[in-house]
Amino acid sequence: MSLSRRKTLALIGGGVIFAATAALGAVAARKPRTAQLPWASAGQGGDARHRALSYALLAPNPHNRQPWLVDLSKPDVVTLYVDTDRLLPQTDPYNRQITIGLGCFLELMRMAASHDGQRVTITPFPEGFDDRALDARPVARAVFEADPSVVPDPLFAYALDRRSNKEPFDTARPLPADKLAQLDVAVSTRFGGTVDAQDVAEWRALTHEALRIEIETPRTYKESVDLFRIGRTEVDANPDGIDFTGPMFEVMAATGLFTRAATMDPTSQAYQAGLAAVFANSDTAMGHVWLVSQGNSRPDQIATGADWLRVNLAATAAGVAFQPLSQALQEFPEMAGHCRDVHAKLAPDGGRVQMLARIGYGPAVDQSPRWPLETIIVNV
Ligand SMILES: Cc1cc2nc3c(=O)[nH]c(=O)nc-3n(C[C@H](O)[C@H](O)[C@H](O)COP(=O)(O)O)c2cc1C
Repeated sequence: MSLSRRKTLALIGGGVIFAATAALGAVAARKPRTAQLPWASAGQGGDARHRALSYALLAPNPHNRQPWLVDLSKPDVVTLYVDTDRLLPQTDPYNRQITIGLGCFLELMRMAASHDGQRVTITPFPEGFDDRALDARPVARAVFEADPSVVPDPLFAYALDRRSNKEPFDTARPLPADKLAQLDVAVSTRFGGTVDAQDVAEWRALTHEALRIEIETPRTYKESVDLFRIGRTEVDANPDGIDFTGPMFEVMAATGLFTRAATMDPTSQAYQAGLAAVFANSDTAMGHVWLVSQGNSRPDQIATGADWLRVNLAATAAGVAFQPLSQALQEFPEMAGHCRDVHAKLAPDGGRVQMLARIGYGPAVDQSPRWPLETIIVNV
């Protein structure tokens, strides 16, 4: 689930928060101290694998759970595992989205290495896989090899500027149709998109409804709420999950106006404000893009992740704001009708709609938190 930070605050606190922000200036000015440092230290390290991994961990991934662990015990090899404590069992019961995030991670690692004179050969699931659940077997084995003929991937130039933009977009600024062609950089999945006003209106309505279902289904909503990190102290302590930082959230964290308990209560102002903020995002989409894969095996999901990262970077290159809206694609029973509708529209002849995002022009947003590289290495 995604909340527009500014809107939420304005709605929950109104004038009270603005007044408190002025009074609690020092609190309001707080920013995370450590949670964004991995963005500044990307590219450092004496080992090519460390340098590539320091970028890989900046990859987009569901709910920013960062479910990646790497074993570096074999020279020149990265063995990637999933941290099974960081899955999303309610909204992602078959770990499809988590696997896509791991595909984003591998592609960013490969791109970074290509700029470091390293060819990376990736074998997904070298010991096999289970399509119903990820397990302790490796997600991928990646072999690094110095190779002066490797072609640096040009999309890598946008890795540090890439964001998921969880703010409302500017409805006064339509997207020119040629932007879609710039975003079509998928290699092994089918890219599609629309900026047509009628289509966009239908997608806005569908994504709005899907968000409503996820939030009104207590167990799927709670999965998000449990991952809320409210204010700088929580974000620095756990730089994963759904982060709320910035002046007004600092004040609300300090004054107890915005708490996990309040957001779980449908009668509370915090809950209503959260709902309104989420809809302010789906309802201001100025276009939509998606990826469809032929199959839906684990390797298909990894390949989807690689393509999704590429599309997200191409959007960054094109100056287009980008936010995945995954709810309608999710496999929990209450969503089945919307998931069917999406497939009837986008994959009438078969295939799996793996990703859907809204695009438009939006305000600049901050880097999201990350755990540092040393915390994901399980075996040096
Ligand atoms: C498979 C997948 C599904 C995602 N679904 C959503 C979503 O439904 N809503 C949303 O706001 N962001 C979604 N995201 C984006 C993540 O929330 C985002 O990547 C993460 O918070 C890190 O932020 P960053 O991309 O700005 O680095 C998704 C990302 C991936 C890879």
